[in-house]
Amino acid sequence: SSSLIVGLVGGGTVGGGVYDIVEHTHKDFFRSLGAQVQVKRIAVRNLKKQRDFSVAAHTELVGDWRLVLDDPEINTVIEVMGGITEAKEVVFGAIAKGKHVITANKALLAAYLPEIVDLLKKHPQVKFGYEAAVCGGIPIIHTLQNDYLGDQVSQILGIMNGTTNFMLTKMESGADYGQVLAEAQALGYAEADPTADVEGHDVQAKIALLAKLAFGVHVPSDQIPTKGISSVASVDFEYARLLNATIKLLGMAQLSPDGKKLSVAVSPFIVPREHPIAGTNGSTNIVNISSRNLVSSSYIGPGAGRYPTANSIVSDLVRLARGLVGPPFPVDRAMPLEPDYTSRFYIR
Ligand code: NAP
Ligand code: HSE
Repeated sequence: SSSLIVGLVGGGTVGGGVYDIVEHTHKDFFRSLGAQVQVKRIAVRNLKKQRDFSVAAHTELVGDWRLVLDDPEINTVIEVMGGITEAKEVVFGAIAKGKHVITANKALLAAYLPEIVDLLKKHPQVKFGYEAAVCGGIPIIHTLQNDYLGDQVSQILGIMNGTTNFMLTKMESGADYGQVLAEAQALGYAEADPTADVEGHDVQAKIALLAKLAFGVHVPSDQIPTKGISSVASVDFEYARLLNATIKLLGMAQLSPDGKKLSVAVSPFIVPREHPIAGTNGSTNIVNISSRNLVSSSYIGPGAGRYPTANSIVSDLVRLARGLVGPPFPVDRAMPLEPDYTSRFYIR
């Protein structure tokens, strides 16, 4: 039986959901696993802010994340604060102190992937989970970490941002850009600064992580051609309709036909109506993986929001409690990058 004494850094959309599931809804479930899981501290920025979840007597709300890192009893840190400056100190500091880390922070992971991998090598006892970092509730990280190791992936293509898919779905029926962005923010889908969503940087980070998992290759963000949805206008949907198609913001990573080069890009694409990606609407995400053995598989599910994302964090926690967290990036390979293919921006 394991004992996970958790420090939760962040008590917002995702953090509140994680706390609720761990401490209220699923307390008995963890007990049934033989695991003692208890959130000892929650660090937030503003202690005076009204929380939309209730904090149990055994949990202390603190105004400084250092109180989580400095607590020797806390052996597991869940980072759901966002940003890449202080969050870096939290994640790197926790690993250096030998604490397990679970994070939803794709921006941080994409920005410091080689450094994080190096640090984890120096602390082999530390387990590292990031299921929530890509596509919210879809268990795509675990799937690529485990179920494709005996396969050969040739392409990953999909909708990897809930905010913009929600926006595009509504804009297609004529809704106003600013209004639907505000709606996505109110629903808890958007990043604290939604520029990351609408300009494609959020998908850029996610496709970099999926490319690392599927192909073993670290792709630095500045080498991923990225275009968001801020330039998509209602007239574009009219043109797409003439082609019996729609417009979706996609992340794509694909091997060249000779399998020697990798191409990674983020862009709005024209997607024919009959393609499963075209019918994936609202905040739902889809990841289609082409591979040698499985040919084509699509993983569809909620891409953002409190409980879907919190579920991915809790799944990491369950795996941690059961001793099932493997290496975060099992494959390591180098491969040259090919200039992007998106000039065709049309998928068949
Ligand atoms: P959020 O609602 O803005 O919550 C952030 C939390 O972190 C808040 O509780 C905030 O405190 C706290 N925080 C921020 N800076 C802090 C600091 N310097 N010290 C202590 N606490 C600090 O954000 P979120 O939507 O939960 O997202 C959190 C992370 O999850 C991000 O990395 C995001 O990319 C990722 N993620 C989000 C979703 C989603 O659907 N929302 C999905 C997947 C991944 P206050 O409450 O006091 O302001
Ligand atoms: N802002 C992100 C989105 C959260 O809208 O998809 C999930 O990663």
